[in-house]
Amino acid sequence: MSGITVLSANESLEKTFFSLFGRSIPVRRVWSDQWRDPAEVAMDACAADPHLLVLGSDIEREDVRAIVPEIDRRFPTATILCLVPTKEVEYALELLRLGARDVLVESVASEEFRAELDPILKIAESRHEKTTGAGSELRRRVITVVSPKGGTGKTTLSTNLAVGLARRMPKQVVLLDLDVQFGDCAAALGLQPEYSLVHAIDGATHERSALKVFLATHPSGLAVLSPPDDLVAADDIDPDELKRMLAAFSEEFPFVVIDTASGIDPLTLAAMGHATDLLFVSTTDVPSIRAVRRQLDALDQIGYVAQRRTFVLNRANAKVGLSVAEIEAVVGLEASFEIPSTRLIPVSTNEGVAAIDKDGAGQLARKFEEIAQYFAPEQGGSRRRFLRALRKDR
Ligand SMILES: Nc1ncnc2c1ncn2[C@@H]1O[C@H](COP(=O)(O)OP(=O)(O)OP(=O)(O)O)[C@@H](O)[C@H]1O
Ligand SMILES: [Mg+2]
Repeated sequence: MSGITVLSANESLEKTFFSLFGRSIPVRRVWSDQWRDPAEVAMDACAADPHLLVLGSDIEREDVRAIVPEIDRRFPTATILCLVPTKEVEYALELLRLGARDVLVESVASEEFRAELDPILKIAESRHEKTTGAGSELRRRVITVVSPKGGTGKTTLSTNLAVGLARRMPKQVVLLDLDVQFGDCAAALGLQPEYSLVHAIDGATHERSALKVFLATHPSGLAVLSPPDDLVAADDIDPDELKRMLAAFSEEFPFVVIDTASGIDPLTLAAMGHATDLLFVSTTDVPSIRAVRRQLDALDQIGYVAQRRTFVLNRANAKVGLSVAEIEAVVGLEASFEIPSTRLIPVSTNEGVAAIDKDGAGQLARKFEEIAQYFAPEQGGSRRRFLRALRKDR
């Protein structure tokens, strides 16, 4: 970790950052009225190899427009954050296209400012480590939720898992709804997206840096991308273009959760091929269970074997004459999680509130928390628990 560099003539901005982070992260400010060109600014600004470079809102727009691409080109390990005096979407978009990672309205040391900065810093740190080779332990995950049969709980699982992950890592998780014809993740989360997959696919081809603009944001900090309303446009989505978009999102977000349509269409195949994890979900009925087994066999045959496979049994308590052990024997995978059948799930979907939120500290919410924990163990969590356990023993 190499710290934060603030590029600004304004000393109080440095003080703000110092009061927010000074004890935990080195903060330095650079400024000179002798600089002759953007290259010189970039060299001085990045001399300390910062992981986050903050451009103050006092810098003239024309200068910002010249400095940002220069830094982005010369020092790709630095994450650029531009502060602006007021919110202005067009200008923010322009800065993102030029190479800024994020744009925030500058404010004095408030809790809100800190809350906005924290996730940006985390991303900056992990990007810096990754690009400088120190972060080999960084675990990026693309989790594709699949089931050959319809109505087994893919959307329930993917939305609740994604919210569970985003609570741990706000702004670092994106949920992509690849059920392009009838996807309903946004509705299940109470969101009304302005843009769709079609915009993002186009963005991934032409303006990769602006991809985030097409996402809707859930209160948990989860970013969500939805399919288009237009079924014809959905039908035109090209799997190769989709792959490009998936690659772009998995570079931008440490955690990508993908909800898919039932069956194995070319888009689901693309999402499976891109995954680090395949999360299979089935209800307890024989046709669904057998279908998962056949899907697994097909994946073996086509060589999709690199992804970690996890099996979730939904409506696990339904009395259908089969034990969990018998189901596992048919599927050929252990059921890592069992979700009970409960009306809380359809009720929360109908209300547009994730079950994990609606259930508070209830059993169902805890179950989804466990699944999120499985994919993103909290850093230092086991150590803290271990120490607490030690204290208890004494
Ligand atoms: N554990 C559960 N208990 C009760 N109802 C559930 C449970 N899991 C899912 N459901 C309900 O079953 C229906 C299908 O669930 P969901 O939409 O998550 O499945 P899906 O696999 O995404 O379906 P599709 O293939 O149509 O996309 C929904 O109405 C949901 O509310
Ligand atoms: Mg679904």
